[in-house]
Amino acid sequence: MTTDYNQIANQYKKAKEQPWRIRTELYSMMNLIGDLTGKSVIDVACGEGWLTRELRKAGAGEVVGVDISEEMIKLARWQEAREPLGIEYRVEDARATESAQQFDISVSNWLLVYAHDREELRVMCRGLANRIKPGGRFVTLITNPALYTWQSHPPNYRKYGIEAQLPESAYEGAPVALTVHLEDQSIVIENYYMPIDAHESALRDAGFRDVAFHNMTLAPDPQVDDEGDYWDHWLKYPFFIMIDGIKA
Ligand SMILES: C[S@@+](CC[C@H](N)C(=O)[O-])C[C@H]1O[C@@H](n2cnc3c(N)ncnc32)[C@H](O)[C@@H]1O
Repeated sequence: MTTDYNQIANQYKKAKEQPWRIRTELYSMMNLIGDLTGKSVIDVACGEGWLTRELRKAGAGEVVGVDISEEMIKLARWQEAREPLGIEYRVEDARATESAQQFDISVSNWLLVYAHDREELRVMCRGLANRIKPGGRFVTLITNPALYTWQSHPPNYRKYGIEAQLPESAYEGAPVALTVHLEDQSIVIENYYMPIDAHESALRDAGFRDVAFHNMTLAPDPQVDDEGDYWDHWLKYPFFIMIDGIKA
């Protein structure tokens, strides 16, 4: 089963309000992306535009968000109409091999986790490369394939509002079921496991160099003096990792 985001677009938007999203996902991504001033950016698999809007607010020039889900794009456009930032949203498949336009940077958080096998991963990476200028950069984020390597797998993330369920042993394309607990309900999202080396080789085959993997960091909370050990487990067993590289 592949997650149908048309069915859960509104709930997914709510899921982006969980503290780890802001304190680790957004913070780590924006730090890794760095200075965006005047740069053209495409957010591939942008969902309802949660990160897309932040990219624009951080100073990016032209910003385009694309997603395969019409409902997600509808939500993104609705927010653009409410608070215009000058972002264009389009329904588009990341795997499309033709792109009319090339950007300085492509961001594509939680996209590659939808590849069922190495071939689909390669096609997605080629799709990203087609949308980037030579010398441009991609930055992306995936569920951490290392979830499988820790002694007690998967780690227990319940207190952060999420739970992961994996088959007993890792195999390429294995379903990773993520239950996201919201205030009044839960949603289940299905990802697929692909090892790190599959990501590395798909990105290299697509023409990226200097491919590097990065760990998350935690944004300080200026309102709280001492959070104790609350985030220790999250940081010790990172639920996601980030990848970046340059289009040769
Ligand atoms: C987990 S959401 C992430 C959304 C957004 N990147 C974020 O971080 O909030 C995954 C998104 O990937 C989109 N998606 C999955 N496969 C895609 C494809 N082949 N092309 C474009 N979008 C895709 C889904 O529709 C969904 O909106």
